[in-house]
Amino acid sequence: MSAQILDGKKTSAEVKEELKPRIAYLTEQGCQPGVAVVLVGDDPASQIYVRNKERTCEKLGIYSVQHRLPATTPQEELIELVNNLNQDERIHGILVQLPLPPHIQEREVLYHISPEKDVDGFHPYNLGRLMIGDPVFLPCTPWGVQELLLRYNLSPEGKNVVIVGRSNIVGKPLAMMLVQKGRGANATVSMCHTGTRNLSTYTRMADILIAACGSPRLITPDMVKEGAVVVDVGINKVGDKTVGDVDFEGVKEVASYISPVPGGVGPMTIAMLMANTVKAAERALQRKNA
Ligand code: GUN
Repeated sequence: MSAQILDGKKTSAEVKEELKPRIAYLTEQGCQPGVAVVLVGDDPASQIYVRNKERTCEKLGIYSVQHRLPATTPQEELIELVNNLNQDERIHGILVQLPLPPHIQEREVLYHISPEKDVDGFHPYNLGRLMIGDPVFLPCTPWGVQELLLRYNLSPEGKNVVIVGRSNIVGKPLAMMLVQKGRGANATVSMCHTGTRNLSTYTRMADILIAACGSPRLITPDMVKEGAVVVDVGINKVGDKTVGDVDFEGVKEVASYISPVPGGVGPMTIAMLMANTVKAAERALQRKNA
C-alpha cells in the first residue's frame, strides 16, 4: 500500500482563502497588509522563493515591495534599509531572505528587524516568546509543518516526533512548538543532527518523522517505521531535479502519509508568511486604535 499524500498545495490554498476576509477588512480600515522582502545577491533558490512570495501577495491583495541588493552590499547599508522599513507605516512585515552573503552577519541584521514586523519569527524576542509558550509570530516553515499535520487530522499530541535537523529556522523552533503543552502539540520530541549516533535507531521510533537536514534523500525506507507519518522539509537540487531529504519513492511504500517535494511544505511556508503578515497588520491597526 502506498502512503497518502500530504498535499501542501491544496492545504495552503485553504489557509490563504481563510485570510481573504481578514485582508478585506484591514484594507477597508485603511490598513492594507504590507510586506517588504529583501534579497541580497543572486542565490538562485532565494530568487525563486522571493518570486513566489511576490506572486502570492499579489493574488491576495497584500501590498509588497522588493528590495534586490547586489551581493557586495555592505552590512551597514542593509541595516540602514531595515531601519527605514521599521519606520515605514505601509510595511507591517519585513523579511530578509536567507542565506546572506558571507561578509554579512545574519544575526546582526535579523536583530535589527522590529519584533512587531518580524514575520519570519527569527528575532530572539519572538523565539523567546515561542520558547516560553506565549508566541506572537511563529517561524513560517515550522508553523506550516504543524498546520499541514493538523489539517490532515494528524495531531502530534502524545506521539513520538523525531526531527532530523537542528537549524534555527526549522528544526529548533519546530521542536519548541511541538513540545509545548497544549492542543496540536504535546508531543514527545527528539532532535537528531550530525552528531547523532545510530540515526536510524531514532528515526525508526518516530510516529511522525520530520526531515529538515538539507541532505538529499537521506531518509531511506529502512529508517522509517511501518505506518509512520513522514514530513519532508528539504529542498535540494540534484542535477536539474528538486528533491527532498526523503527518498520519496522508497519511503512512500512504508509510510502512511508523506509530503512530496515540491508541493508539500514549501507552499505551506508561503501561506504562513501571508498569515503572519496579516497578523502583523491587525496588531498595527489595534495599536493605532488603542
Ligand atoms: N531561507 C530559507 N527559508 C527561509 C525563510 O523561511 N525565511 C527567510 N527569510 N529566508 C529563508
